[in-house]
Amino acid sequence: MEKKSLLKDETLLQHPLLLILALALGFVVMDPLDMGPVGGHEFRPVKHEIAPYKQVMEKWPRDNHSRLGEGKLEFVDEVFGPESLEFDGFGHGPYAGLADGRIVRWMGENVGWETFAIVTTNWSEKLCARGVDSTTAKQWKHEKWCGRPLGLRFNKETGDLYIADAYYGLLVVGPEGGLATPLAIQVAGKPILFANDLDIHRNGSIFFTDTSKRYNRVNHFFILLEGEATGRLLRYDPPTKTTHVVLDGLAFPNGVQFSKDQSFLLFTETTNCRLMKYWMEGPRAGTVELVANLPGFPDNVRINERGEFWVAIDCCRTAAQEVLTHNPWIRSVYFRLPIRMSILARMMGMRMYTVISLFNEKGEILEVLEDPKGVVMKLVSEVKEVQGKLWIGTVAHNHIATLPYP
Ligand SMILES: *[C@@H]1O[C@H](CO)[C@@H](O)[C@H](O)[C@H]1NC(C)=O
Ligand SMILES: *[C@@H]1O[C@H](CO)[C@@H](O)[C@H](O)[C@H]1NC(C)=O
Ligand SMILES: *[C@@H]1O[C@H](CO)[C@@H](O)[C@H](O)[C@H]1NC(C)=O
Repeated sequence: MEKKSLLKDETLLQHPLLLILALALGFVVMDPLDMGPVGGHEFRPVKHEIAPYKQVMEKWPRDNHSRLGEGKLEFVDEVFGPESLEFDGFGHGPYAGLADGRIVRWMGENVGWETFAIVTTNWSEKLCARGVDSTTAKQWKHEKWCGRPLGLRFNKETGDLYIADAYYGLLVVGPEGGLATPLAIQVAGKPILFANDLDIHRNGSIFFTDTSKRYNRVNHFFILLEGEATGRLLRYDPPTKTTHVVLDGLAFPNGVQFSKDQSFLLFTETTNCRLMKYWMEGPRAGTVELVANLPGFPDNVRINERGEFWVAIDCCRTAAQEVLTHNPWIRSVYFRLPIRMSILARMMGMRMYTVISLFNEKGEILEVLEDPKGVVMKLVSEVKEVQGKLWIGTVAHNHIATLPYP
């Protein structure tokens, strides 16, 4: 404990400019007009368990050849924010969950993309189908009506598609598609606020993440800024139609992926920039351990045919951000300044680019691919390796990137 607070003070001293800035801001009247990014919210920043920036970056392998930049952009302005990509049992696809609330599938060159499923009867062309604008702020106030499917998984035996939707919880739709059926919209008597990703256990139970009890998807930036840890890993059991809390107190739990033999599952904690393991079987069953600290903010995790794991990372963390992480009070002041979030983020030295990384079962890094110039990818949400090709999704742009691999 003591060591930690000492370290914190050192960090602050190493950034005297930040300290002065923070103190100066302390005298500023705190955003009386509610114009800052957190204006109108009850913003409660807390400390969180993020690994030291320097320590992580020193060990992290770099892709000096920017190999991800050699990827290809496909389906430009045909798919809108395809966060999760999936293929069915016949190898058809990809299927993609879009920012306009639909799940679409690729039917080949002649037919193109067709709507496969929707998650709510609230969905209408007029309200929801905003095309390329669905990945912009124009969609925000409609999202909770239209839905936002974030995680997709086929049960390859039954052909059913399971969906984690940010607003409509866990759902399932048959092999023919159509209107999905809700399975879990609440747990322990409270609504599931932000379902994010899922995976299917061989016994049929669905493990899925609920990112926060306080903020929904549109407000996800506040989860990162506060460092709040109210997220959960949940389990839905089909025979009893019941939902259970597996893990609580997680900081932006996001992607979920079982290992090949399902003895464990991996999940990402986006706020804490790390990849975690939850043991399903064996002597450590029921316990959680750290797999890897990451250089940036992870999203989904997906297994390949060799049983290795692709992690999609929005890179990188910065040293300035770390000072904020350890000092909630600075965040309290900083983000109440009546300045646009994008400018505040830039002042903190944040410039996001895409890094994808392959881990083996032991948590060793096998591969790192980067696109620092943002040639094909600016924000990444998922990497799916299928027969010699990586399919790379993004939550905020209107395309899919692909790259031959290995
Ligand atoms: C990439 O470049 C850095 C610094 O220039 C070097 O330390 C590192 O070994 C290089 N990595 C690879 C994989 O070549
Ligand atoms: C329609 O959307 C509203 C707003 O999110 C929600 O309260 C309602 O439950 C939705 N209705 C259906 C049938 O999904
Ligand atoms: C499937 O296995 C998990 C992990 O052991 C267990 O928690 C869950 O209840 C099981 N589901 C069914 C339907 O038996």
